[in-house]
Order: sequence, then structure tokens, then C-alpha cells
Amino acid sequence: MQIPSKGLDKAALFQTLEAYRAGDLTWRDGRTWAYVYDPGEEVEAVVKQAFTMFLSENALDPTAFPSLLRLENELVSIAAHHLGGDAAVVGNFTSGGTESIFLAVKTARDHARHLRPSITRPQIVVPETAHAAFHKAAHYLGVEVALTPVDPVSFKADVAAMRAAITDQTVMLVGSAVSYAHCVVDPIVEIAALAQEHGLLCHVDGCMGGFLLPYFRRAGAAVPDFDFSVPGVTSMSMDYHKYAFAAKGASVVLYRDRSLRRHQIYACSQWTGYTLANAVLQSTRSGGPMAAAWAVLHYVGDEGYLAIARDLLAATRALCEGIRGIPELRLLGEPEMNLIAFTSDSVDVFHLCDEMRARGWFVQPQFSFHRSRENIHLSVNPKSVRWIDALVTDLRASVAAARSLPVSPVVGMVQAALAAMGPVSEIDPGLMRQLMGALGIGDGRLPERMAAVNQVLNALPPAVRESVLVEYMNDLYTQPAEGEA
Ligand SMILES: Cc1ncc(COP(=O)(O)O)c(C=O)c1O
Repeated sequence: MQIPSKGLDKAALFQTLEAYRAGDLTWRDGRTWAYVYDPGEEVEAVVKQAFTMFLSENALDPTAFPSLLRLENELVSIAAHHLGGDAAVVGNFTSGGTESIFLAVKTARDHARHLRPSITRPQIVVPETAHAAFHKAAHYLGVEVALTPVDPVSFKADVAAMRAAITDQTVMLVGSAVSYAHCVVDPIVEIAALAQEHGLLCHVDGCMGGFLLPYFRRAGAAVPDFDFSVPGVTSMSMDYHKYAFAAKGASVVLYRDRSLRRHQIYACSQWTGYTLANAVLQSTRSGGPMAAAWAVLHYVGDEGYLAIARDLLAATRALCEGIRGIPELRLLGEPEMNLIAFTSDSVDVFHLCDEMRARGWFVQPQFSFHRSRENIHLSVNPKSVRWIDALVTDLRASVAAARSLPVSPVVGMVQAALAAMGPVSEIDPGLMRQLMGALGIGDGRLPERMAAVNQVLNALPPAVRESVLVEYMNDLYTQPAEGEA
């Protein structure tokens, strides 16, 4: 593809862009149960206006755009108050949960390097329900992950296992509030106490739950302590672009005090250009996400969020009841916020996802990992609340339809091929090509019904699954063929 020799007229250009969306999830109808956090069009309009207002301002240099420094400091202050922090808490606005977590891991690593020079192979202790972003950060930063099991029924971190995983190289313990997959709050009080006992840092990942949990508590849910009110919690992450409904690209990372945060900040004077001092990973940063986050918080307001939380709590309870009423389904864990995971011992959940898709819903498959079997994830949105009964009705119908659908024969073929190869952590390119062909994947395009693909991925050992995903992504991001519209 090339830049057109003459610029297109505006109408044609926007028409083309609109046409690009044809294959996207139609999330505005409230029938998409992952990926989007949709408060409705009125709030969305405010978010968009604020975003475009600050679109071109650059937070690269906070002294050049004091408006952005002010927005960032206010967004951090709101988060600190919201999460039981005092005036000593500091933090930064980041592009998302992954960046917030990345920075918390970097800070822990560099804090340890500074204070504990005997640490040469820094390690973080991470329950297996914690977000993949911890693994990604560790991978990028040369930090080791000690993965610890969780309780097989509650899916909460097993603190005894975390204790056993601590070594002389440990720098930080991690807990989630809430975990994405099962929507539960880890025993933060115990994890933080364990960290204190060993002189370690403790990060609480509130990317998903940090914003909404305090409202759920006020709405009557039993929410365990999870924030800076807990002694020993040293850092937290919280996303505004999830259930605060900011535009995507909005999260905060917080530290109990600035002595810790200084290890996050990077400055470079080893080049010929402008002064570079970055508090976060990004350097040039649009003011759009900050302004949009600030605007949504001030537009919806505390009472507005509480009302939303009340609706979400009631809807989540109703949805759990509905799922419990379908004998073939069972919940995995007891959700402490508005995300649900459920599985089945008699029906293939991947067929169930396809059946739901055929009925106009998007529900998200999650693969098995250690003690968590394959399951279906539902994130409840304000816009989805009205659909609870219809969703449950279609779940029942989908269970009936999926019951007789078989597991793909490709699963057996792949398992046999892997068994013949012995222990492997990567998939051989030849086998990968065969596999893609057998599953109907060509040019990165996925088949309409995904059950076979998901069944195969689910059956693979995690390391092999990762290698398949890497190859797939490597194929997916390529230049479009000449003339492709
Ligand atoms: C608990 C938790 N932590 C971290 C993240 C990563 O956030 P992001 O996708 O904004 O990078 C997520 C995303 O869903 C999450 O649920």
C-alpha cells in the first residue's frame, strides 16, 4: 500500500474508514461480553470531546504543557484517595494496565539493585491467576517469575505457597484485586504481611478491580481489604480505561511514597537532543487519554459510579443465578465484582462460544491452565445489564445445541504428533503449517466457528501454545496484498 498521490476528500475517506469496521464486534448493542467498557453514548460523547481537545498536546515535557502535568497529578491524586492512600502516595498516568505493571516490576527490580546488591537474579512471586502482564514485564526486564498455585475452588492466591516460593533473590510479591479470569480478590492482607515479614515489596494489581471494588463495597458487596489501607502494600495499578469508562490508554501506577517511585523514572543525557526525563515508558504522549479520563470522572461523578456499581452488582448476581440454573454449567470461583467465569463438565465450552456467537453474542473463551479448566468469561457492562435474561435463555439453548458436537479430530492428531516428538517447547514450522491448514486458518484469517482452533490450543502444553501464538501473530501482521481492499 502507498500514500495516495492526491489526498482523498473527507467524505470518501471516512466512508472507507467506516467500511473497515465491517468485520468488527458490534459492541454498541451491549451483546459483547469482553474487550469493551461501555457506559452508553452520552458519557462516550464527553470522553470523545475531551480526548480530541487535548489530542495534540504532548506530555513529553510536563513543563511545556502544565495543563497535562496538572491533569496527571489530579488523576493520580484521585486514584490515591480512591485506594486508601495518604498524601505521601505518588504515581503516574500510563497507557494501560500492562505499562503500569511493567513500571511496578521495573521499580521493584531497580529498588532491589539499589538496596540489595546481592540480588543478581531478581525474582517476583506471582500467583498463577495474576495477569499475563507480569510475565511480559518480567520477560522484557530480565526478571524471573516464581509462579505459585491458587486454591482450586476459590481461585485465590495460596499464601503458604507464596511463602515457600520466596528466595534470597525475591524482590516483590504480587496479588490481584480482582483477577481477570475468576474475578476474585487475593488475600491481600496476608500477602502484604508476608512481604513485610521478609522486607519485600508488594504490588496489588487493581487494573481491573481497583476502580469499581470500592463502589461495589458501598453498594453492599462483601469486598475484602485490598488497597493502601493494608500495611505492607507498596504499589498498585488501576486502570481508568476499564470500569471508569475512560478512553483506552488510561491507567495509573501508584507507590506508597516517592522514595520507591524514583526507581521508575528514567533520564538520559547521553545524546545530542532535547532533555529527556521520562516518568513512564512512553516518551511522546498525547494529552487525549488524560483529558478523557479526567472528563469522565468529573462527568459521571461519585454518585454516578455508585449507581452504575449497584446496577452491575444486581446484574452480576442475576447472571450467576441464571448460570447456576443450567445444570450443565458451573461457576469457577465466586465473582467479587462483575466478571464471571463458568465451565462445563459435559459440554465443550468452545462449541458453546460458537453457538453463542451464532445467536449474536460475543463471549470470551479462556484456556485451561493448571487448576483452572477451560471456561467462558463474561464481563458485565452497564449496557449489557438489560440483556441478562436473554443471555441466559440463549446460553440454555446453546448448551442444548453444543451437547452433541464432537471434539475436533485435529486435537488427537496434534496430541499424537507431540507425543511422538517427546518434550518440546516449540512447534516445528512444518507441523505449524499442517496444523493451520487442518484448522482452516489461511492468511491469518480465522474460521467462523473457532471451536476446533480453541480445542487444539487448549490441548497444547502452555509453552507450545505460546509458540503457536507467536507464529500466528508473526503471520497476521503483514503487508496487505497489492490491490486488496
Ligand atoms: C487484572 C488485570 N491486570 C492487568 C491487565 C492489563 O491491562 P491492559 O490490557 O490495559 O494492559 C488486565 C486487563 O484486562 C487485567 O484484567
